[in-house]
Amino acid sequence: MTEPVMVDWNSEKTAEFRRGVIQARHRLHRAEEFSDDALAALLNRHPRELCDFCTMGDDPADRETWRAGDAGELDGHALLQAVRDGKLWINLRDAMNVDPVFKPLFSSLMGQLKHLNPGFNPMRAYGGILISSPRAQVFYHADVSETFLLHVRGRKRFRIYPPQAPWLEDTALEDILHKDQTEDVPYEAQWDADAAQIDLEPGDFVSWPLHAPHRVENLEGLNVSITCEMVTKQSFMKNAVHHANGAMRRLGFEPKSTKTTGAEAWGKLVLSKTWHGWAKLTGSAGKPLPKSETTFDVDVSSEDGLRDRATI
Ligand SMILES: [Fe+2]
Repeated sequence: MTEPVMVDWNSEKTAEFRRGVIQARHRLHRAEEFSDDALAALLNRHPRELCDFCTMGDDPADRETWRAGDAGELDGHALLQAVRDGKLWINLRDAMNVDPVFKPLFSSLMGQLKHLNPGFNPMRAYGGILISSPRAQVFYHADVSETFLLHVRGRKRFRIYPPQAPWLEDTALEDILHKDQTEDVPYEAQWDADAAQIDLEPGDFVSWPLHAPHRVENLEGLNVSITCEMVTKQSFMKNAVHHANGAMRRLGFEPKSTKTTGAEAWGKLVLSKTWHGWAKLTGSAGKPLPKSETTFDVDVSSEDGLRDRATI
């Protein structure tokens, strides 16, 4: 695909990009790279250590039902069938930035977004491909990277909540940055009234401010989306300040500010780096996060497309 990826970007979107919730249109839903055959081939060749196979329950408040599974030797078409008929969520991490077929699309997208948004120049960028069931959902969470999503196939309901208390408490963000917590943050159903709710159709692009919590419910069809994650100077500094505030709290001090400019912010950048260095030295960095244990096998013929593993 040599045409531009984004089709209706304008100065209003540029002004709001990464500051508010932006909707736009893209062309990737028409690209042959996202046909069944192309996705099946990707599922066959993408390194399995970069693939997550997950399932979940129906209650958006019960994130304990999120769990990981194993796809065994199933081939790409069988996996697509299991997703179409079952209740599965597959994340092909980094597919957009490492796979030779998808990388040109990602380069074109990022190049165009940089061109359209002066000052937007990520230090690092990654893109995953999500393939999920008509009944799948992703629970309320806040990403530590800047993120946006391009929807390609199926329909899904996306809700985005403000990146501040009570929807996101400073301490919850600090816990994520200190790896005491996954990106799941506390959720209350009544907050849905405060959310920007967007029903995504193929060809829709959506982006939101850094740390804004969001959750997703699929509505119809086999869902395919591209999720992009970026480290920018702004996200790096903001995360350093919140990480330093978490370090202060762990040392018994009450942080007073989340400002990312000025001498105090630079002091916090130093504190954050020191804490990371200390954690590395003492071996407390890189704590394993929960839920990585595989508790099911993908199984096309079983209900929900999966078979639970026997527990001992
Ligand atoms: Fe997310």
